[in-house]
Amino acid sequence: MLAVAVLAAGKGTRMKSDLPKVLQPLAGATLVERVLGSCRALDPQRQILIVGHQAERVEQSLSQHGGLEFVLQQPQNGTGHAVQQLLAPLADFEGELLVLNGDVPLLREETITALLERHRTSQAAVTLLTARLDDPTGYGRVFADASGHVSAIVEHRDCSEEQRANNLTNAGIYCFNWSKLAAVLPQLSTDNDQGELYLTDTVAMLSPAMHVEVADADEINGINDRYQLAQCEAVIQQRLRRHWMAEGVTFVDPESCTLSDGTRFGRDVVVEPQCHFRGETSVGSGCRIGPGSFLENASVGEEVEVLYSVVRDAVVADGCTIGPYAQLRPGTELARDCRIGNFVEIKKSQIAAGSKVNHLSYIGDAQLGENVNVGAGTITANYDGVNKHQTVIGAGSKTGANSVLVAPITLGANVTVGAGSTLTKDVPAGALALGRAKQLIKENWS
Ligand code: UD1
Ligand code: CA
Repeated sequence: MLAVAVLAAGKGTRMKSDLPKVLQPLAGATLVERVLGSCRALDPQRQILIVGHQAERVEQSLSQHGGLEFVLQQPQNGTGHAVQQLLAPLADFEGELLVLNGDVPLLREETITALLERHRTSQAAVTLLTARLDDPTGYGRVFADASGHVSAIVEHRDCSEEQRANNLTNAGIYCFNWSKLAAVLPQLSTDNDQGELYLTDTVAMLSPAMHVEVADADEINGINDRYQLAQCEAVIQQRLRRHWMAEGVTFVDPESCTLSDGTRFGRDVVVEPQCHFRGETSVGSGCRIGPGSFLENASVGEEVEVLYSVVRDAVVADGCTIGPYAQLRPGTELARDCRIGNFVEIKKSQIAAGSKVNHLSYIGDAQLGENVNVGAGTITANYDGVNKHQTVIGAGSKTGANSVLVAPITLGANVTVGAGSTLTKDVPAGALALGRAKQLIKENWS
């Protein structure tokens, strides 16, 4: 039997934030979501989150996550005290307890699986994850012999100068034999610099205690402050970009672009500098995105070009070109081969294939048929101050420059709207609509 416990009760004082540390976002997911994600493959019988500081908020943030038990630690008197809270809920439990620090978000599933396997084959009382860090400042130091047996962990602040020179570092990830741990947990003392109960002190009380060194030291990065948060973000971004480069995406200036876990690309996509992909965004084969674009929950087909533009909660079909300087807002759906040009904003509108909105327009709450040509500066006046209204433009219609379509309004197919018109009434198919004052000429006026 396997139980997983994530330590997530701490305040995270060093973050200087109103948000509990484990809810800080990292590449679109919270720290605690990432930690839980790293042990998903193990399929544990019990999954316990130890919460304390802003417990309700942490619980609420995970309400979608099934099968979690929450155990309250109040007050938060150290990592050992946190695990002591499991003595009651795990009273009848037999098997391994995997303990994960809630602020160590870069662990790979494979690493945790390997730790568990090693623990099982060596029959240790505890097996913990370590790494050799170039700069171990702030981490607990692990004292071990050549055969991997650990004698003690000493926190950075409790180390002597000599002990600090040891760069074998505690990751904060442990696999315990639960009944052996349960027997020593009550013996912890607060005899340390912070006056807290340290989980790390159990290691010297358990035998045999073993460690497994990770190959990629980045994995054990713990987050205590914003600088470390940024460092972890950089590691995740690097992993994501590398993954997609291996899948056939060109990044012209990789370091200038950011991705989310939910970003997907087809082959031969070219991502120009300064592009950002958030949420569940997919970009089809052969697209050229950027420079300077932001896509969030965007579904982009194949062979699309997006230049200096923002696309949010929108669908863009194959062959469209967007920008420069366009904004596709939530609910925009573009069918194939549409062209959305500069300084155009589109919101909650369906635009059928081959239509063009090339310059300086606002199109909101509208339905455009195929091959509509929206002239420069055309505006749908969709809002009367209280309600939003629909504009419908039939296939093949053209609006002249600077037209205002006051919604609700329907233009049939193949309508032509004269430049500078303000239309408030429906226009039948095939008609010419003019809605402007007649031009007046007064000769010899000056
Ligand atoms: C801890 C380890 C250290 C290790 C480092 C790895 C101890 C004593 N030290 O130090 O050896 O190198 O992690 O990142 O364990 N927490 C609670 N309740 C508490 C205190 C903390 O749930 O009362 C949680 C925190 O929310 C956090 C985790 O435990 O997720 C680690 O706590 P933190 O204070 O960050 O420990 P470190 O000083 O980083
Ligand atoms: Ca920490």
